[in-house]
Amino acid sequence: MDKFYITTPIYYTNAKPHIGHAYTTVACDVLARWNRLQGKETFFLTGTDEHGAKIEKKAKEEGREPQEFVDEIAAVFVDLWKRLNISNDVFIRTTSPEHKAAVQKVLQELHDNGSIYKGTYKGLYCVGCEQFKSENELVDGKCPDHNAVPEEMEEECYLMKMNKWQETLIEKIKNDEFKIQPERYKKEILSFLESQKLEDVSISRKKLKWGIPLPFDSEHTTYVWIDAFLNYLTGLGWDGDVKNVPKMWPAEIEMLGKDILRVHATIWAATLLNLGLELPKSFFIHGHILSGGKKMSKTLGNVISIGDMLDKFGVDGTRYLLMSGGTFGDDLDLTMERMTEKYNNDLANGLGNLVSRVVKLSEKTSKDFKKISSYSEILTDDYYNWIEKEQWMSNARIDFILEFCFTEVRILNKKIEDNKPWELFKNDTARFEVVMGELIRSLSVVAIVLDAFLPETAQKIKTALETKKAEPLFQRIKM
Ligand code: MSP
Repeated sequence: MDKFYITTPIYYTNAKPHIGHAYTTVACDVLARWNRLQGKETFFLTGTDEHGAKIEKKAKEEGREPQEFVDEIAAVFVDLWKRLNISNDVFIRTTSPEHKAAVQKVLQELHDNGSIYKGTYKGLYCVGCEQFKSENELVDGKCPDHNAVPEEMEEECYLMKMNKWQETLIEKIKNDEFKIQPERYKKEILSFLESQKLEDVSISRKKLKWGIPLPFDSEHTTYVWIDAFLNYLTGLGWDGDVKNVPKMWPAEIEMLGKDILRVHATIWAATLLNLGLELPKSFFIHGHILSGGKKMSKTLGNVISIGDMLDKFGVDGTRYLLMSGGTFGDDLDLTMERMTEKYNNDLANGLGNLVSRVVKLSEKTSKDFKKISSYSEILTDDYYNWIEKEQWMSNARIDFILEFCFTEVRILNKKIEDNKPWELFKNDTARFEVVMGELIRSLSVVAIVLDAFLPETAQKIKTALETKKAEPLFQRIKM
């Protein structure tokens, strides 16, 4: 059986989840559900990144023990994913004993095979990014992502060899063996790799307590990114033995925001190469969510809360608005007002109205709709195959499939207005049956394609078609 392994990045537990985390996770959920529906053996991993200076500092500010602090925040992530109907198979936490033991085994291996050596590292460290920054990455001396001046740091540490992999990485990315999508991110990372020499990276911290101790030098803890990357393997139950890699590896897709592409394409990839393991098959890179054209911030007061979205739009409404918010890969500009309008147009008036009209009219027909709308029938439908053939999903055009579905919804609503089936029922029964057959068939296809995006709604549509009884799907929201 074909296998499909997909991962989200693991989220820092320095603060509660926000809309950006929800966007990444819902996008992965759509891909996981889609591939499960195709009958692939699917594994979907998400979780939390719980060590490092940023979290240690935050826990201290709150007067809490780090473990107790991350336990609380990890639980909020788990709850939110339940609420958003996320179908992850495992939720990995980097403070779990299994993960910690595997990380230590891997570091021992890297040390034994000569990929790690002792030295010193001097540089500018951004705690927000948990990364050293080069001068040319700063704007006015500050990290542009965190608007903060990085700390000067010089300490004894262990370093991992990077440079010998530069050409390998360029080649694998160029020939799509290690595929980076959308295309412009592939170009971006290639131009980075082709323009500067990869420096060896520090993989340990001497002064930091909140991390996994190095097995060969307990004065040091593991650099949080190395610890975190390994989740993609330990989440599969891997114990760190390179001779015993889980069969689901390599991942088909690692979904990442654009801000963490470089660190993955360099440090994560080099770690795998140093271990003699395969690289993930692809990265899907998404843009950032902005609000009213600006980065969300408490000061600007333009933060869109995921909790507010769920309260207002419900689970499927929220999933829909996130996934249809713009072209995958680009930054998305969202506002509550625009989302409310879109909810009313596409969901309440568009899809909701279509379903209630078709189901109401279907009461009058004699057709056996169970058969027409049956799953196996539809899976062989040309229309469905076409989507798969075009490989929009595997080409990171998630939003495009939704757009395609909702165009179909508009076409079907228009078909009802043009054909006036309620009149046909009175004057031309044969034609009435034909039109209804087409409407039901098309609506069933829409429901199946939507299954991955709006699982509850898709189920409700299928039940409504089968029982010829429809409950309202989406209530209009007052602007
Ligand atoms: N812990 C690291 C990842 C380690 S993976 C081995 C991390 N965590 S994070 O919580 O800061 O961010 C996780 C993801 O959320 C990133 O992919 C990031 O791009 C995404 N987002 C953070 N803010 C975002 C928006 N405003 N919009 C969309 N996604 C954004 O980085």
